[in-house]
Amino acid sequence: MKEINQYYTLKRGEQVFIREAKSSDSAELLETIREYVFTSKYLLVSADDLEQTVADQREWIRSLNDNPNSLLLIAEHEGKIIGNIDLTGSMEFDENPTGMLSMGILKAYQGKGLGSILLKLVLDWARANHQLKVLCLQVFQGNQSAINLYLKAGFTVFGQQGTTTSLDATDSSNNTIMTLNL
Ligand SMILES: CC(C)(COP(=O)(O)OP(=O)(O)OC[C@H]1O[C@@H](n2cnc3c(N)ncnc32)[C@H](O)[C@@H]1OP(=O)(O)O)[C@@H](O)C(=O)NCCC(=O)NCCS
Repeated sequence: MKEINQYYTLKRGEQVFIREAKSSDSAELLETIREYVFTSKYLLVSADDLEQTVADQREWIRSLNDNPNSLLLIAEHEGKIIGNIDLTGSMEFDENPTGMLSMGILKAYQGKGLGSILLKLVLDWARANHQLKVLCLQVFQGNQSAINLYLKAGFTVFGQQGTTTSLDATDSSNNTIMTLNL
């Protein structure tokens, strides 16, 4: 039921193609994720992130594609991967099957409506999935553009967790946990 592959038009007319990731995207997707992670002060980089290899990325793509409750979409502009969104479904909580959401877009393409398009596609897909009941995400408290995007889509703040420090150490605040009942 995944089958998502279509062109969308951004606010300033750019045409982006959105589709499911495939294993041959591993190297380029890893580059794109590294670029937006390192250019955003609101994304934490763990030791694991730094050590990610193309093979790890390939395995990650495979695991999401093989899971009927998970979805990994990428956005391409002129053949280049410019962002992604991923939903990792977990059936661990029988009564509340949950999907963890994460996303990012290259700086040059932020604020053009792409995040809204990617999020809507994933929410529509999750609502049609029927197994998942709750979506959940973590966002750095100071990441106002992301928080605004999620609030607009219907997420609410569930609570705060721990204290984290931004990459450039100028901001230290909590992680906000947001959820959405499907
Ligand atoms: C957060 C992110 C995914 C948003 O995607 P985007 O394509 O920039 O967002 P959109 O252009 O679709 O904007 C959607 C909404 O987000 C909010 N938003 C976007 N940019 C904003 C900004 N600079 N300031 C405040 N709100 C902003 C607005 O509510 C906007 O709705 P509007 O256009 O009706 O005003 C993107 O900026 C990004 O990848 N950032 C770096 C990685 C990251 O923070 N990921 C999220 C981790 S939880």
